[in-house]
Amino acid sequence: MSFYIKWHDRLDSTNHYLKKIIYEGDRVRSKTIVVAHNQTKGVGRLDRSWISPAYTNLCFSFFYAVDVPIPAIPSFTMAMSLAINDYLRSFRINSQPKWPNDVLVNNKKIAGILSEHIESSENSIRGIITGIGININMTKDQIKEIDKPATSILIEKGKISSIKETLEALIPHLEYWINEWEKNHFESIRTIWETLTGPIGKELEVHDGKDKIKGKLYGYGKHGELLIDQEGILRTIWSGEIP
Ligand code: BTN
Repeated sequence: MSFYIKWHDRLDSTNHYLKKIIYEGDRVRSKTIVVAHNQTKGVGRLDRSWISPAYTNLCFSFFYAVDVPIPAIPSFTMAMSLAINDYLRSFRINSQPKWPNDVLVNNKKIAGILSEHIESSENSIRGIITGIGININMTKDQIKEIDKPATSILIEKGKISSIKETLEALIPHLEYWINEWEKNHFESIRTIWETLTGPIGKELEVHDGKDKIKGKLYGYGKHGELLIDQEGILRTIWSGEIP
């Protein structure tokens, strides 16, 4: 079954909206996409806000009905960053996924992903809500509002893109990587993930919310958790940020 798209003029956050209607008992079908022209209170990971001027970028969330253990969810996010990466590369934008939930171009963020587990006894719905924000038509001036290095398709390509066409062109890539992920979760995307984000052994610094962990990339665990070799001690990081 393919994606079903519902456009909204204005929503606070497409993730919040989807969660709300599911918890209120709506029988939202799997692969429903909710997209907003104007997302007024977008959220990112670690309680950050997601800045996106109205009618400028692609901001959407989709519900995917699947019964998986919670530790498998981060690798779904990673699979979705591979989908965005493929889409951008098909337009000759030299992008790269970054653990755990970003897509970068020359170390500047062009897209972010936020996946959340959802389980509602009200309507027996269980699955993942994945929110995706892609900077499309943001100008250099608008990008300055973001507190981290960021870019947009406009900045990279010098051309305005249609938001609707971008979503439509992205969907086959989402479908492909969802199918890959379904096979064996992180294990089925491991090789390509390691190739695109490596090399193993590179020096890394990770902030896990509490500590700064410096070491060498040892690899990824069964679910895509980061493994860092810190002077001979293997550290496992499930959630964090590589500055
Ligand atoms: C991150 O990089 O921290 C994740 C950003 C996710 C942003 C998208 S935009 C559409 C969806 N709705 C939200 O409120 N957030 C996600």
